[in-house]
Amino acid sequence: MTCLEFKKLGKTEVEIPVLGLGTWGIGGFSDRHLGSEDKAVRALRLGLELGMRFLDTAEIYANGHSEEIVGIAVGEERENIFIATKVSPSNLSYEDVIRSCEGSLKRLKMKYVDLYQVHWPNTSIPIRETMKAMEKLAAEGKVREIGVSNFSVHQTREAQEALSKKSLASNQVKYNLIERSIEEDLVPYCMKEHVTIIAYSPVARGHIPGGGREERWRVLDGIAEKYGKTRTQVALNWLICKEPVVAIPKAVTLEHVREDAGSADWRLKKEDRDALNKAFS
Ligand SMILES: NC(=O)c1ccc[n+]([C@@H]2O[C@H](COP(=O)([O-])OP(=O)(O)OC[C@H]3O[C@@H](n4cnc5c(N)ncnc54)[C@H](OP(=O)(O)O)[C@@H]3O)[C@@H](O)[C@H]2O)c1
Repeated sequence: MTCLEFKKLGKTEVEIPVLGLGTWGIGGFSDRHLGSEDKAVRALRLGLELGMRFLDTAEIYANGHSEEIVGIAVGEERENIFIATKVSPSNLSYEDVIRSCEGSLKRLKMKYVDLYQVHWPNTSIPIRETMKAMEKLAAEGKVREIGVSNFSVHQTREAQEALSKKSLASNQVKYNLIERSIEEDLVPYCMKEHVTIIAYSPVARGHIPGGGREERWRVLDGIAEKYGKTRTQVALNWLICKEPVVAIPKAVTLEHVREDAGSADWRLKKEDRDALNKAFS
């Protein structure tokens, strides 16, 4: 039931849990939704207890309220938890990155974040300018590692080249059994370059656990039965079997958190991964 498995983050010396918890929708989506904090904190704390000691949030989630909830869930326990947040694409100028980071740290009630990510590319602001601010934050100890999100291969390379003191640790992108378009270029690129892929929407926003009755779902269910696992656990394990990939499902239902946490510390055999690749191709 617990996730005690780790992977190296990019080229850094940092080890991160292969499963973290996402927070999009925690405390609201685009606006602050007050009243759901206790349920969310309970879910995040259960995830932490079960070894999902990696929380992913963003300044834009619930207009900052998700970060506040993450801060409450972590409380005094900060040291052994990997905290990732993101700066929005509208805030990628040098001054705005610095300001956004200060705002996130305040809401999180933390002195530093472990990973600061550019949420989406913004082609009207040079990535060099954004990365200069990122490295300044790293030099000041406010940010431990630097990542991007939703970057193509080309944009990832540009981000890598724009950094002079640190290596690019990660790229957070949509990846699950159903949505596999990044396998064509981004997965091999990140593998070669030692950039961690943080898979978001790893259970396809509930579509995988919900699934259907067509052949591909029967293949998934057959494999799940063989391992004594659930559909979701197999789908998450399929992701983390890939060398550069870790996954961040979001769950506020305690049963979901428990189920997701049971997706690591075991491995699907190659023949079963191949069968899933074929069924979901
Ligand atoms: N960088 C980006 O642009 C970007 C974009 C999207 C997401 N993300 C990050 O990635 C995280 C995860 O992605 P996501 O929230 O889009 O989708 P997801 O994790 O694929 O799906 C979340 C949904 O699946 C349900 N769920 C989780 N585990 C389940 C289980 N074992 N059985 C049944 N249902 C289950 C959750 O329900 P309950 O909540 O009721 O438990 C929730 O409705 C986000 O929270 C966010 O941190 C990043």
